Amino acid sequence: MHNDIEKILVSEAEIDTICKEMGKQLSNDYKDSTPIFLGLLKGCVPFMAALTKHVTIYMEQLYMAVSSYHGGIKSSGDVKIKYDLEVSVKGRDIIIVEDIVDTGATLKTISALLYHRGAKSVKVATLLDKPAGRLVEFTADYVGKVIPKEFVVGFGLDYNELYRNLPYVGVLKPSVYQK
Ligand code: PRP
Repeated sequence: MHNDIEKILVSEAEIDTICKEMGKQLSNDYKDSTPIFLGLLKGCVPFMAALTKHVTIYMEQLYMAVSSYHGGIKSSGDVKIKYDLEVSVKGRDIIIVEDIVDTGATLKTISALLYHRGAKSVKVATLLDKPAGRLVEFTADYVGKVIPKEFVVGFGLDYNELYRNLPYVGVLKPSVYQK
């Protein structure tokens, strides 16, 4: 599997540092609240685990399953909710935990939905931000690392459901998806 990676963009050590700093920042910013950390499955899983280890305040962890890629390397822009929340978010502070903001379609749609359901605040914490990929206007509140417009996999990010288990984020060799 590692042979399919052209180069490493965010190393394990760098991810660790990002999670420590972001966890500290979130703990400080939400010290007067009991926020909901809302992970968007499936890509959020490693980041949620690594980040929340460094959160020192009371918080809840919830998940939704949302998908916009449906396989392949391009977002369809069509955001589908496959598994929804089973509790109310009315009056709650929410931090959406994401592996990547690319076109912005997923986060824009889900943020609006949560506000519509009565959330008090909705912010986004993402490991990666790919501003060059934006198709809709969207700014994340907590960003681990800004990356160039390359197709990346690892640490939750997949290509046709593979590579999520890589401990780093890397660029996939084009030969892998041009097969
Ligand atoms: C990826 C990623 C984000 C979204 C970002 O999820 O985890 O949720 O796309 O892309 P966008 O900014 O272009 O909307 P995907 O739809 O691939 O589902 P997954 O997490 O199950 O892999």
